[in-house]
Amino acid sequence: MTTVRLNSADPVSFDTDALIVGFHPGSEGPRATADGLNAAFGGKLAATLAAIGFTGKPGELAKIPSFGAITAPLLVAIGLGDEPDAEALRRAAGSAVRSLAGTARAALALGGDAEAVSLGALLGAYDFAKYRTNGEGKAPVADLTVLGSGDDAVAERAGVLADSVKLVRDLVNTPPSDLWPAKFAEIAEQEGAKAGLTVEVLDEKQLKDGGYGGIVGVGQGSANPPRLVRLSYTHPEAAKTLAYVGKGITFDSGGLSLKPSASMDWMKSDMGGAGAVFGALLGIARLGLKVNAVGYLCLAENLPSGTAQRPSDVLTSYSGKTVEVLDTDAEGRLVLMDGIARAAEDNPDLIVDVATLTGAQIVALGWRTAGVMSNDDDVRALVVEAAGAAGEGAWGMPLPEELRNGLDSPIADIANLQPERWGSMLAAGIFLKEFVPEGVKWAHIDMAGPAFNKGEAHGYTPKGGTGSTTRTLIGLAERHASA
Ligand code: BES
Ligand code: MN
Ligand code: ZN
Repeated sequence: MTTVRLNSADPVSFDTDALIVGFHPGSEGPRATADGLNAAFGGKLAATLAAIGFTGKPGELAKIPSFGAITAPLLVAIGLGDEPDAEALRRAAGSAVRSLAGTARAALALGGDAEAVSLGALLGAYDFAKYRTNGEGKAPVADLTVLGSGDDAVAERAGVLADSVKLVRDLVNTPPSDLWPAKFAEIAEQEGAKAGLTVEVLDEKQLKDGGYGGIVGVGQGSANPPRLVRLSYTHPEAAKTLAYVGKGITFDSGGLSLKPSASMDWMKSDMGGAGAVFGALLGIARLGLKVNAVGYLCLAENLPSGTAQRPSDVLTSYSGKTVEVLDTDAEGRLVLMDGIARAAEDNPDLIVDVATLTGAQIVALGWRTAGVMSNDDDVRALVVEAAGAAGEGAWGMPLPEELRNGLDSPIADIANLQPERWGSMLAAGIFLKEFVPEGVKWAHIDMAGPAFNKGEAHGYTPKGGTGSTTRTLIGLAERHASA
């Protein structure tokens, strides 16, 4: 496990394997954020970097041997642009540390907010090596030092956030043969207990007896039965209670409404919402935030079989409303409708559900921007703001009333699918809203794209599971914490 420490030592003489230094673009070549660095290189550093085309723009990275000019044998120059904000620092730190896989120790001199640098560095030091047999030389940097000022709490907070995000990445990356609902619930019990959370697990019989028709219906096609996990954290000085509900489909084949192969091969990531809720609850507890938080993980595996639910089946949700299942691939809303209705019983000040809910989110907003819907304009704005502060892209989306008609069912209270594909992200939000009791504030985060990076690694984000939205949820809890 990678650790980070803060140290106010001089970067030039600091004993490490690689010194990472931030640069701003300048009229006389890139300008280092570390004083004395150019002098240590005999005044030639800026010209040398300029000669290899490094200007200090965001995203640029250059490695140069130090030839003894500084104590570290390797200098990693990383572009910061003119006025880097916290996210620019996180990304720069992350990509520099990521580029040093196989190196034991690294130190970062990027100037600016030490927490952002620490967090970016820790998030960049990630590798999912569990299933690789020839992993040599790829181990992430284990020992990180951030050269700058700040107290131990800064590094500690960054460590808590990074641990949560990395745990979520691990869960998302784990093949569904090794992460089924009961297994996820077991991990939640173990890790939750370590963090001081109260953890309750409902098994398939309890779910059936308790009237959780959506979770039962989605899970009934798999030999691995569903679970509902409730994680709770309380603080004696808390004034507010938050309830988070995560979509936890450990594999989404589509069910009898089977997906084509190309859409299915990454559906191990369909528990990313539950992952984020789980990671957030662990983080909130470890940070000791003065807020009450409840997390629900709606866990099921969506598979076709002789026991699977059929298109045209009608389910009775936990709220009592009936739902006609027109498409078994629109399963996320079926598990969430039960989770949301159950969460409302905790009398929370706010319910936030998080889900890899629709392909339409990716069509509308792309891979890196989640869609945020809400029954309250201020809540939606707050969620978008918290996501922005965490560097997790999110954008407010409407819930147009006229889409409700498309969900009318001739035989049940509501159908789980509208007849047309246009506006599917919003229709899913409209569906969920039906299960939020009157007067309860609620937001829905559709993070289908952001949860899983099918492209190349960038900044502090690896390929595969990203851990997206975990930090947004922790940030939201901070915004509801007592002073
Ligand atoms: N898990 C998928 C949505 C998804 C798609 C997540 C791509 C991540 C990447 C969800 O269960 C699903 O299948 N949604 C359908 C809904 C449709 C049947 C209304 C979709 O988006 O196509
Ligand atoms: Mn689906
Ligand atoms: Zn799904």
